[in-house]
Amino acid sequence: MLEHDVIIVGGGLAGSRAAVEIARTNPSLSIAVIAKTHPIRSHSVAAQGGIAASLKNVDSADSWQAHAFDTVKGSDYLADQDAVEILTKEAPDVVIDLEHMGVLFSRLDDGRIAQRAFGGHSHNRTCYAADKTGHAILHELVNNLRRYGVHIYDEWYVMRLILEENQAKGVLMFRILDGQMEVMRAKAVMFATGGYGRAFNTTSNDYASTGDGLAITALAGLPLEDMEFVQFHPTGLYPVGVLISEAVRGEGAYLINCEGDRFMANYAPSRMELAPRDITSRAITREVRAGRGAHRDGSPGGPFVYLDLRHMGKEKIMSRVPFCWEEAHRLIGVDAVKEPMPIRPTIHYSMGGIPVNTDGQVRSSGDGLVEGFFAAGESACVSVHGANRLGSNSLLECVVFGRRTGASIARYVENRKLPSIDEQRYIKEAKQQIQSLLEQPGEYRINQVRQEFQDAMTDYCGVFRNEELMKQGLEKVQQIQHKYSQIYLDDKGSCWNTELIEALELRSLMVVGQMIMTSALNRQESRGAHCREDYTERDDEKYLQHTMAYYSAAGIDIQYRPVTITMFEPKERKY
Ligand code: FUM
Repeated sequence: MLEHDVIIVGGGLAGSRAAVEIARTNPSLSIAVIAKTHPIRSHSVAAQGGIAASLKNVDSADSWQAHAFDTVKGSDYLADQDAVEILTKEAPDVVIDLEHMGVLFSRLDDGRIAQRAFGGHSHNRTCYAADKTGHAILHELVNNLRRYGVHIYDEWYVMRLILEENQAKGVLMFRILDGQMEVMRAKAVMFATGGYGRAFNTTSNDYASTGDGLAITALAGLPLEDMEFVQFHPTGLYPVGVLISEAVRGEGAYLINCEGDRFMANYAPSRMELAPRDITSRAITREVRAGRGAHRDGSPGGPFVYLDLRHMGKEKIMSRVPFCWEEAHRLIGVDAVKEPMPIRPTIHYSMGGIPVNTDGQVRSSGDGLVEGFFAAGESACVSVHGANRLGSNSLLECVVFGRRTGASIARYVENRKLPSIDEQRYIKEAKQQIQSLLEQPGEYRINQVRQEFQDAMTDYCGVFRNEELMKQGLEKVQQIQHKYSQIYLDDKGSCWNTELIEALELRSLMVVGQMIMTSALNRQESRGAHCREDYTERDDEKYLQHTMAYYSAAGIDIQYRPVTITMFEPKERKY
């Protein structure tokens, strides 16, 4: 059996930042980072627009309190305000720490870190590295993993959390290269496994964003929090869905419909293109529904609107958002200096996740904690984003709560012993599971079942939702799940069997999808990204609460836990 003091599953921003903190706090601890890709290929590397912090380099009137208020208002008052206070107070410090690690932020003329406008933020506080901020930060963090001697198990797939009597003891995993199966035990296990964008058919997320950590947690009998809150990023490039950063609007681009109107004036007149994402995505969808979207030939009634950069000029476009220009040019042949980009909302981010307290320790219920189990980043729900996340608060969450969780793990493992595990039992069960997948005499191919599932999630649980639609959606997902038990795999081997990985990832997506839909069906109100056509108002009396969803073979049980309100009383949210 493999063993380390700490296991971190996921090598993106939150996992890497936690590993660095553990190593800095106690260099004698043995830390393993396990990831199904190389850490440098984690989805964090694709983050573009920036990381928010009230450094006041551009706007001296900014403060952590203003950042906190914007975040809570953006969350439609569902965020836990004690967590938001930590996020926004610690933001300047974590950004300066990244700078000291060597992160190449864009600069002002006087050499200080540059800051730009972002949606829902009342001050220019988003620090950035052109439009490749995640890339710049992740590279330095991964360099630091090596510097601190962290053991990296890259291209290992974690199948199971070993949880016994409310204690996380380790994980069961296999090496993708040759199928070698191992149990790894540790004094603490942390999940930083990212989101689940691939549960939908149009997403800015990479192929690896399949919600494995969330599904594994749910299958271990632990709750997932606020899964109904799924973020659509307003500007996915049409038709591919890749991200065109909000930084483009932060630098001055317009959203226009097929009539050339800046339609955000009708939806969020005080913020225009820099309204929060839930409001902007709904506005675009409404324009398209009203026939003011465009087709590729420019005629009205099509499925997208335009992001217009032309007035920004070539020099600004190429210096501030060169990657977005390149994406549109490379993927759909649009030169954004001369023509507007076709865009529509694309699935981008999970506000919900594995419930944790502000030290990153996983909750077993509304008021209980799991021993030895921690989570941070997009896979966790601490909840700083509530019902809707502001852009550039996600990289921030990863580094603030990655660091905090790392520090709390370093304290937690002090004077603890490695747990005992019946290694052979877990290996035997996992081998049986894989064998039955490889041998099942099914009639469906994985990509066919996955496509059907992604289409169902998109059609039945999208920007606008209602009870009838979601009930149909749940039925459809159950039928698709039945088909999953009849998939067949061509590749029966153990060497680099990507088909097997895809089958396991699809299992994860389907667990997560059911949690999203059931949580959404049960929340009979509209709040943030969860917009019900049959319950159009926010209902604080009943639903100023976090959803806690428990998965079991018999069905999903929904409970609620209270929101922590310490600074700002909920009020109507207007922009
Ligand atoms: O639009 C963006 O660059 C995305 C940023 C974010 O999700 O925080």
